[in-house]
Amino acid sequence: MKSFLQKMPDALKRVLAVFVLVAGTAVLVRAVLPASLTDSRLHIKTTVEREMAHPVRYAGSEACADCHEEYKVKQGGYHKNLSCETCHGAAKEHSENPSDLKPKLPRMREFCAGCHTYNPSRPSGFPQVNPAAHNPRKVCIECHNPHDPKPTRTPRECSACHAEIARTKELSPHVQLECTTCHTVPQDHKLIPRSVRATIPSERSFCGKCHSKESGRKEAPKVDILTHGEKYLCWQCHYPHMPEVQ
Ligand code: HEC
Ligand code: HEC
Ligand code: HEC
Ligand code: HEC
Ligand code: HEC
Ligand code: HEC
Ligand code: HEC
Ligand code: HEC
Repeated sequence: MKSFLQKMPDALKRVLAVFVLVAGTAVLVRAVLPASLTDSRLHIKTTVEREMAHPVRYAGSEACADCHEEYKVKQGGYHKNLSCETCHGAAKEHSENPSDLKPKLPRMREFCAGCHTYNPSRPSGFPQVNPAAHNPRKVCIECHNPHDPKPTRTPRECSACHAEIARTKELSPHVQLECTTCHTVPQDHKLIPRSVRATIPSERSFCGKCHSKESGRKEAPKVDILTHGEKYLCWQCHYPHMPEVQ
């Protein structure tokens, strides 16, 4: 053993010394730490106990159904996926003691605007408004029932629901093209967009109608449709709402 250590290069001895130090410290610390930190089962148990000890604050929407009509009203409407307590705050105590503890009534514009203010990161088609322009100085609930907000009855411009795309196209070389040049849009898409869908072009030849050498559309720049971009769909390289050539 002694001769083995002596034969070892110095560098290796230092590495060994550091290793022994680190491993030794780890063993030592583990021995000193309380069991609740080293025993994972005990750790899970104490954590669960701690969390379970918190008072329950939310009752869940079903709990409101017994006493409030609003439960039924909301079920058929556009807010069906929002829980009552999303808007009224935690209401477990209220459910158990209705007359003493009243949930909050979020009547201010800011509250609705929190979800409905125009924001490009929201999914395409999510109903959004610009609160500065959309009937300012009146509370939203004057016109929209919070438990059954009505979708608008009249079909609207594409830009009402696809504002980001509309604004992008406005600044692009395709500004002169109507949305319906490229999309077939049944009238009902503008009322029930998730059930009645608009179409998206499916082939390269669609763009070729204006951009192939054979096309009669003079102001559109031409490419050789057979070789340009090979087998890929045109919109795998060109964003159709903002086609740009760098
Ligand atoms: C046991 C019956 C009962 C249950 C369960 C119950 N409420 Fe109520 N709630 C009442 C009564 C009664 C009032 C009217 C209190 C008053 O005006 O004195 C009320 C009033 C309210 C109000 C109006 C407060 C105001 O200031 O006018 C809201 C909002 C409300 N409840 C929400 C809820 C929600 C959300 C739930 C479910 C989490 C719920 N309630 C569960 C009985 C109930
Ligand atoms: C999108 C937010 C929102 C959701 C979700 C919501 N509420 Fe309301 N609720 C409101 C607002 C805002 C008011 C105040 C309406 C007013 O003053 O005209 C209100 C009012 C009420 C009132 C008082 C009604 C009155 O005439 O005084 C009750 C009770 C109530 N809500 C219960 C519920 C219950 C139960 C649910 C779930 C089934 C629910 N709400 C879901 C926003 C909401
Ligand atoms: C004076 C009445 C009035 C007030 C106040 C009002 N709205 Fe509207 N809202 C309407 C009408 C009418 C429409 C349908 C016509 C349109 O699209 O502008 C509508 C449409 C909407 C839409 C659907 C937009 C879409 O593109 O699908 C949302 C979401 C909306 N409002 C939210 C709000 C919010 C949030 C507030 C408060 C910050 C508010 N409204 C205040 C009358 C009102
Ligand atoms: C927690 C987020 C949230 C809050 C807060 C909220 N909403 Fe909504 N709202 C939604 C969702 C989700 C939909 C359904 C969207 C869908 O069907 O794609 C919706 C739909 C609507 C619609 C239907 C628009 C249409 O034409 O399709 C209107 C109007 C509306 N909300 C108004 C309001 C008003 C007024 C308030 C305030 C009392 C409010 N919302 C608060 C999430 C919210
Ligand atoms: C009432 C709001 C609304 C109006 C108005 C509207 N759309 Fe849509 N559109 C949507 C929603 C919501 C979706 C997402 C549907 C989905 O993913 O299920 C969508 C999806 C689409 C799609 C994608 C279809 C797909 O299969 O991915 C296209 C293309 C489209 N809309 C084009 C248009 C055009 C063009 C117009 C105007 C002529 C228009 N939309 C008007 C709400 C609307
Ligand atoms: C030059 C043809 C063209 C025009 C004009 C055009 N689109 Fe498109 N659009 C397409 C193509 C192609 C796709 C498929 C893109 C993809 O799958 O990557 C598409 C996809 C979409 C989608 C679904 C995917 C997404 O980007 O969210 C929507 C919604 C849409 N278009 C709406 C519109 C609206 C609204 C307008 C008018 C403001 C419009 N389009 C104008 C060609 C066009
Ligand atoms: C109805 C005719 C028409 C259709 C269909 C069409 N475009 Fe265009 N496109 C044009 C016109 C016109 C211009 C040139 C506008 C200008 O520069 O004044 C153009 C310009 C372009 C440009 C050049 C942009 C630049 O910076 O020079 C590209 C890339 C392009 N389109 C791609 C596409 C793609 C991809 C499709 C299919 C999704 C498509 N186009 C469908 C008419 C069309
Ligand atoms: C693999 C990516 C790719 C594909 C797929 C593609 N393109 Fe292009 N496209 C480019 C690039 C890069 C340029 C700019 C360099 C050039 O001129 O070749 C361009 C340029 C263009 C131009 C402008 C030409 C000019 O003279 O200004 C048009 C128009 C165009 N493409 C239309 C299309 C159409 C239509 C399709 C589908 C048939 C398509 N592109 C498919 C990458 C692609």
